[in-house]
Formats: sequence, C-alpha cells, structure tokens
Amino acid sequence: MEKIIDTARALVAGDKGLLAMDESNPTCNKRFARLGIPQTVESRRAYRELIVTTPGLGECISGAILYDETIRQQKKDGTPFVKVIIDAGIIPGIKVDTGAKEMASHPGEKITEGLDGLRYRLAEYSHMGARFAKWRAVLAVGEGIPSRGCIEANAQALARYAALCQEAGLVPVIEPEVLMDGEHTLKRCREVTEEVLRMVFDHLYTQGVMFEGMLLKPNMVLPGLACPSQETVEEAADATMKCLLQAVPAAVPGIAFLSGGQPAELASARLNAMNVRFKSRLPWPLAFSFARAIQQPALEIWQGEEAYVSAAQQALLQRARCNRAARRGEYTAAMERT
Ligand code: 13P
Repeated sequence: MEKIIDTARALVAGDKGLLAMDESNPTCNKRFARLGIPQTVESRRAYRELIVTTPGLGECISGAILYDETIRQQKKDGTPFVKVIIDAGIIPGIKVDTGAKEMASHPGEKITEGLDGLRYRLAEYSHMGARFAKWRAVLAVGEGIPSRGCIEANAQALARYAALCQEAGLVPVIEPEVLMDGEHTLKRCREVTEEVLRMVFDHLYTQGVMFEGMLLKPNMVLPGLACPSQETVEEAADATMKCLLQAVPAAVPGIAFLSGGQPAELASARLNAMNVRFKSRLPWPLAFSFARAIQQPALEIWQGEEAYVSAAQQALLQRARCNRAARRGEYTAAMERT
C-alpha cells in the first residue's frame, strides 16, 4: 500500500496536474470529425505522438491517462508511448471503464460499465507500466434526475473498481462527473454534487477502499450551460470549495478537477480562484486532470497536418503552463497572450 500512497501523492505534488488523453475511439473520432481530420488508427496514433512528444510537457504534467488503444501504441520510430511518457518524467495511467451506457429503467440516465474481467485487465495494464487508473461515472441533471438508483449504482461501481485497483497496486482516480448540460442553477449543481460525493465516499468506505491511496476527479460546481444566470469565477470557486469541504474526507491525498467542456481559459481561471481563495485552508491540494481544457486548442491547430505539429505542441504546452500557474494561484488573463 505504501507504493500506492506514494504514487497518489506524486500525481498531485508541487504544481503539476494530470493530462487526460484517454478519449475512447468513438469520442476521439467525433472530435476529429468536427475538424475534418481522418478518423483512423493512424490519425489517432499520430495525434497521441504529438501530445507525448511535446517538449517540456513534464514540467507541468505529473501523469497522463491513456486509453487501451494508446497504451499499446508507439512513436513512428517504434518507441512505445509508455516509454516516451516515463522518459519525460510523467507517470502513465489508463482509463479502465468501458463507457457509460443507458441505464435500464432509468430514462435519461447512464451507468458506467467495465467491472467484468477488470482484475485481469488491471494486471495487464500494470505489467505494461500503468501506475494509476481512471473510471468515469456520469450524472445528468434534470427534472427528477439524477435518481437515487443511478447515483447509488454508479457509486457502487466506482467503489468496486477502486478496490480492484488498489489490490492490483494501481491508484484509482475516481471520477463522478455531474454534467454541465442543461438549465440547472449553480445551487442545484452544488446539491447534486454533494449528494453524489457523499454516496461515493460511503460506498468507497463500504468496499474497503483506502482513502490515502486514491485521487478524486470531480466536476467544479457550476451553473448548467443553458442556465440564464452564470455566476462569476469567484462565486463558482466558493460554491465548489464549500461543497467539497462538506463531502470529501481529509485523508484523500488530492483533488484533480475535470474540465467538462468549459472554455479552456475559464477552467484555468476557476482553478486559480479556488487556489487563491482557499489553498491555505484546505486538507488536500487542488490540481487539474483536464482533457479538453488542455488539448482542444492544440487539436484545432493540428488539423491532422504534419506541418502544424510544432505549433500544436506549443499550444498544448501553453495550456499546461496556464494550469500549472492556476495551481499556484498565479494565473492571469495576461498569460493567454504570451
Ligand atoms: P474533460 O477535462 O474534457 O472533461 O475530460 C476529463 C476526462 O477525463 C473525462 O473523463
């Protein structure tokens, strides 16, 4: 267990954060399709090579979350991605859920699958060099949802996944995502997020998960994207912190937020505000584990073209640096222009 605790601490140490580059093939293809990038194994490989070979990435990124296809891939010159990542000083991780599926008898809600055979997959990933794992549950907010049935089933799946990870020597990154889609208010997001987190920690405890050897990857508390009232960065930061302080045990070594489709600059500004206003009063460090809020500008520059690789890498590094600054509480809008 000492090894797991050390890994969990290393992932949130200093001012670095996680880079989620674990989009499933369908999700990655959807993002490529929007930009006219071919949706092939080779395009996905080339894109992931661009990411992992970004010079200086290890200055800002402590861990990279890979996908089953990606952890088995190599650079064009044959070097395995896992080796490239480790050589950059970054800890390799792996997404192990198999996706959120329609939940039976719960219209509009999803349950994340992937527990069957997980013990064997974790052993294989560990053998391939992964030291942590990720599982994402999604909770939609709307009329009468999320239901207790959906919250409970997802919390139990997260807890069973986490227990298996720790058995295999991997740090579970536990991601219960309350979605931003909809007209709900910030207050409702806070209520739902708190209920979900309480249920998740209840199940983690029941399943014997050691809090010191895990990381939490929550959503920020935000108004729905279609909500007419959009609170300030500071108001969102305060609501998020009040919610997490109620529901997350102090033994958890760190919190690494997902970005959830927020504009990249706003995700940095909100993380920054939380660190500026609360850092000295929190039991856990506040880090990031962003996918879109680190990758999106780079993907848009790359467009699948070899000629744009270097410019795309600069954009990726720029976002990683902004988020590192946000961890320190030193992010400013001026950084976006440098
Ligand atoms: P976003 O930061 O784009 O929400 O992705 C985080 C993630 O890992 C989703 O599972």
